[in-house]
Amino acid sequence: MKNAIVTGSSKGLGRSVAQALAAEGYRVWMSSRNADDLAKAKQEIEASCPGSVETQVMDFGDMNMVQAYAEKILVECETIDVLVNNVGIYIPDQLTDVGNAFQQQMGVNFYGPYTLTQQLLGRFTEQKHGHIFNVCSVVNRNPRVEAASYTISKFAFWGYHQLLHKTLLPLGVKVTGFFPGSINTASWDGMEAPKDDFVQPEDMAEMIVTILNMKRGTVPSEIDLASINPDY
Ligand SMILES: NC(=O)c1ccc[n+]([C@@H]2O[C@H](COP(=O)([O-])OP(=O)(O)OC[C@H]3O[C@@H](n4cnc5c(N)ncnc54)[C@H](OP(=O)(O)O)[C@@H]3O)[C@@H](O)[C@H]2O)c1
Repeated sequence: MKNAIVTGSSKGLGRSVAQALAAEGYRVWMSSRNADDLAKAKQEIEASCPGSVETQVMDFGDMNMVQAYAEKILVECETIDVLVNNVGIYIPDQLTDVGNAFQQQMGVNFYGPYTLTQQLLGRFTEQKHGHIFNVCSVVNRNPRVEAASYTISKFAFWGYHQLLHKTLLPLGVKVTGFFPGSINTASWDGMEAPKDDFVQPEDMAEMIVTILNMKRGTVPSEIDLASINPDY
């Protein structure tokens, strides 16, 4: 069975991607902090794809946990075929604010995915195949003053994405970045917003499946996805 690691996957985009990859026959490695949400997602996906899901309760802001998770994956997976660096948090702030939103978002949005990927990199280079997807953001194209720390953390991640792409391409490992506008996910729960106008997570999940099914020579490097509403 091929292995797909999808981070931050009990809800939102990660949940949709996990579902789509399980339907494609992958063993999907799902992770998040909340054990109940994760168990529920596993149960729902396995209702149509029995035995397809492995779960890990963990915090991507805790590098010891990330390291331990990488070690577990390396032991339990003969090959790592897909890694979707999806986990991310959004805490609005401005450069003039004082608080810990910067440390929190640099941790979960950059150091966590960076640490996991670096730990798994040797396996990808040995295999000489596999596909890494990095979920960046529209803020990489248009920095957002009212989401300063988020923007900086996504820029750090984007820099890493570009280096990964250039480093791994000659080794036969594909790296694709997504740059979505607002996505209709749980992160908008409780907010008044025109969610039908947003990018829909199922569409992004289907795009990942389409990209995985492309011929060996084709590597989409960066994909922008605008929502139809210019205010989002
Ligand atoms: N939604 C948007 O409008 C939008 C737009 C552009 C880009 N993005 C990016 O798209 C990605 C997915 O966003 P989303 O909207 O799908 O998020 P979401 O609906 O809030 O879901 C986030 C998932 O990650 C998990 N998670 C959050 N913090 C975690 C942590 N510290 N450790 C482990 N798991 C954690 C959550 O579960 P727990 O809370 O239980 O841990 C949940 O499963 C993110 O990288 C985000 O920056 C989102």
